[in-house]
Amino acid sequence: MSDLLHPTVRPRRLRATPAMRRLVAETRLHPADLILPMFIREGASEPVQINSMPGVVQHTLESFERALVGAAEAGIGGVMLFGVPEEKDAVGSGAVDPKGILNVATRAAVAAVGDALVVQTDLCLDEFTDHGHCGVLDADGAVDNDASLLVYREMALAQADAGSQLLSLSGMMDGQVAAVRNALDEAGYGNTAVLGYAAKYASAFYGPFREAVQSSLVGDRRSYQLDPANRREGLREVELDISEGADIVMVKPAMSYLDVLADTAATSPVPVWAYQVSGEYSMIEAAAANGWIDRERTIDESLTSIKRAGADAILSYFAVEVAERLRSQESLRTPVGRSAGRRAK
Ligand code: PBG
Repeated sequence: MSDLLHPTVRPRRLRATPAMRRLVAETRLHPADLILPMFIREGASEPVQINSMPGVVQHTLESFERALVGAAEAGIGGVMLFGVPEEKDAVGSGAVDPKGILNVATRAAVAAVGDALVVQTDLCLDEFTDHGHCGVLDADGAVDNDASLLVYREMALAQADAGSQLLSLSGMMDGQVAAVRNALDEAGYGNTAVLGYAAKYASAFYGPFREAVQSSLVGDRRSYQLDPANRREGLREVELDISEGADIVMVKPAMSYLDVLADTAATSPVPVWAYQVSGEYSMIEAAAANGWIDRERTIDESLTSIKRAGADAILSYFAVEVAERLRSQESLRTPVGRSAGRRAK
């Protein structure tokens, strides 16, 4: 007896109870799919708060090691390391120096948690150059693609030697994946994996990160990062990185680029990751601090939407908090035989 006022098709049946909703959920967050970006500041004696990213710090080497243990205990999949050096120069010498902060931190991380977490390193020059660009400059002050590739190759060897398990190429130079893969293979680092930040857009959402790494950048990165207007070009970058040998590809930022992410996930033969960047983090924190949104629900929804669009794993400054919450939610589930509502606390 179906009529306009009594439909026979009722999707709401599958939304009726928490248990039914849980069973039919198409997308699940899991601690192993989350990667925590971390900042380590050379010479710091105390962790330094990042004002534009409440709750995120520049670590000292000691606080870094404590945080790594917490991250491993939370069960996340990996950590992505960024160094904040004391000294910068035109060619980013600190990036290739085995005693440079990122390489020192990488060694410490691999020794502390290298079996439990995948230790990943940002392979880009912007933290180490006094001009703040991701590559070296030519005589006219333009970012010199091919000269930068030579430095990336050296940086890759320094990072692989420090034990990095996944080199994360975020510089957006043409040919960077092939150049680095070749340098690694020639030096006997055939087992060191490469992540291509394939579709990395020139985004205002990186704003708070500039404070996090004390970037000296004047101007912008539009001559090498993608134009936010371009979807097809994002796919082209993904295809190039895969053809050059990327083991994993990334789309970045995440939430404003879910179309690019979905396109990539539909065709990529390699894992597809997304980076929920600093501005995405800070917007949620700022709105929640004002009482304008429910913080935890917004965090979960943001990460779920990124997974739903096709990310296999997500870099997020919320990674450890969410992993811990996912674990405690599972362990607090209603034991068999108790009625709903009388949950063990
Ligand atoms: C470049 C790099 C950036 C981010 C990660 N790697 C900054 C940029 O490209 O301007 C941004 C990450 C974030 O905003 O959380 N090494």
